[in-house]
Amino acid sequence: MNIVVVCGTNREGALSRLLAAEVVETYHQVDASVDLLDMNELPAEALLPTAYKEQPDNVKSLVDRFLKSDGAVFIVPEYNGSYPGVLKLFVDMLPYPEGFDHRPCAFIGLAAGQFKGLRSVEHFQQVAGYRNAHLYPRRLFIGDSFRQFVDGKLADDELTERLKEQAAGFVEYIKAIKPA
Ligand SMILES: Cc1cc2nc3c(=O)[nH]c(=O)nc-3n(C[C@H](O)[C@H](O)[C@H](O)COP(=O)(O)O)c2cc1C
Repeated sequence: MNIVVVCGTNREGALSRLLAAEVVETYHQVDASVDLLDMNELPAEALLPTAYKEQPDNVKSLVDRFLKSDGAVFIVPEYNGSYPGVLKLFVDMLPYPEGFDHRPCAFIGLAAGQFKGLRSVEHFQQVAGYRNAHLYPRRLFIGDSFRQFVDGKLADDELTERLKEQAAGFVEYIKAIKPA
């Protein structure tokens, strides 16, 4: 099973990147093959006005990696009460309908503040749902982000456990809705 873990920001020093690395490790533990697709890989060419019609090769290669997945896990940081613009740009580069249609998607919110990425995830879920993705219902929300990592690792064992539960559940969900 191929899982793509999407780090939903290109911000230098983003904590989402640390979280994404932990999520990748968690999926390795359930024997999935994982591709970490970081929004910092989205090339500036994605901003060209022509990119929608004539997709630059370096954008297409990123899009193709996403399309290869059996399921996508989105790490969705909260920026200004929503999800980062670079993540929407990537979504807008995905082809219609196969970008999301019937693709199982799981979500993890991360925020500095007390709303724990609830808004960023729910805003993003609206887009994925609109595009007919299968939304895995067990989401994870992490607040107080700047206190959650020690030496680059999640410090809260309970959160680590919940990441594992989500991964195990998401893999079963994918098997159930995408039978071999
Ligand atoms: C442009 C920008 C806007 C942000 N807006 C919010 C916000 O509305 N609410 C919040 O709790 N944190 C906000 N933050 C803080 C992020 O949620 C915090 O940095 C968190 O760790 C996730 O983002 P990161 O992966 O970039 O670190 C914002 C950060 C940036 C860079």
